[in-house]
Amino acid sequence: MKTCVAITGVHGYVPEYVLTNAELEKMVDTSDEWITTRTGIKERRILKEEGKGSSFMGIKAVEGLLEKTNTDPQEIELIICATITPDLIFPATSNIISHAVGAVNAVSYDMQAACSGFIYAIVTGAQFIETGKYKKVVVVGVDKMSAIVDYKDRATCVIFGDGAGAVLLEPNEEGLGIVDSILKTDGSGEKYLYQKAGGSRRPPTRETIDAREHYLYQDGRNVFKFAIHKVTSISKEIMKKNNLSSNDIDFLVPHQANTRIIEAIIQRLGISKDKAMVTIDKFGNTTDASIPLCLWHYEPKLKKGDKLILSAFGGGFTWGSVYTKWAYDGC
Ligand code: ACO
Repeated sequence: MKTCVAITGVHGYVPEYVLTNAELEKMVDTSDEWITTRTGIKERRILKEEGKGSSFMGIKAVEGLLEKTNTDPQEIELIICATITPDLIFPATSNIISHAVGAVNAVSYDMQAACSGFIYAIVTGAQFIETGKYKKVVVVGVDKMSAIVDYKDRATCVIFGDGAGAVLLEPNEEGLGIVDSILKTDGSGEKYLYQKAGGSRRPPTRETIDAREHYLYQDGRNVFKFAIHKVTSISKEIMKKNNLSSNDIDFLVPHQANTRIIEAIIQRLGISKDKAMVTIDKFGNTTDASIPLCLWHYEPKLKKGDKLILSAFGGGFTWGSVYTKWAYDGC
């Protein structure tokens, strides 16, 4: 019989600094009214301290997770870090995190699938448990989006925030945990959402810096359309495959990109508003941290056996969906 793999703990970390819409009004030509009605975001957290990167937040999330789940760091066998804002191009941010938390027996590596990275990473981590290779896997989704956001570009700077969320994956004897998953990629989406320079195709030069090419570029209107269409279709696909109607779902955990996207998706899926996890008002779009921060925030409300659909969409394009039965009562 297939080994069931469950999330057995979740923890999050967001920096203390709160960047409000009122403060953004002073930085670019925007308004609280525009940001609230077009995105649903009221504030986001920013990691301000110089010299601190994504690993700082990832370490905090993983340390909290290990403490909360009473896990000895030496028992962790694998740490996967999903991020598009690694501390360094290399080595991997997961290596920095595993060293800092004392996970001396863990192998660690990063995964990059933009806003779908956390979904890709838990699906990947779960495979190692399913095959019997490992028993304790940590997946951490973290992004310091403020490092690649242009605070002169009103179309993107109001959207993103910084944060981290981590989960522990373990085998489950009661048949709870991840039931099914679907991952998808369409590389033709590259031109709609990317960072123009800094990689090997266009290494950093004075010109690339002057042209502000080291910041995230997004064709918001096109990404918006793709996100609604793809997240709706993949969520429908996984529900159909597993004979689930909208009434069977206890929580939809959508990537937090825009309240209007979330509302359009739940309306198309026939899921009531109270069943959609939403944190975008407080944290903005935290890319790889968005889904684990939702799970962390809603953890007290979750009950053993609850049926959750986790669905994300991101640059690449990448998108994915996981159907999981929650394995413990909220704490
Ligand atoms: N304040 C005021 N006006 C603004 C702002 C702002 N902050 N930003 C844009 N505008 C203006 C535009 O200039 C435009 O003006 P114009 O009509 O005179 O040209 C107008 O508002 C409308 O602009 P749109 O880009 O069409 O605005 P839209 O309603 O599409 O909202 C947004 C923009 C929020 C970016 C939306 O398109 C969106 O959420 N897109 C999807 C984001 C997403 O899902 N990303 C995927 C994951 S991210 C990742 O993978 C890293």
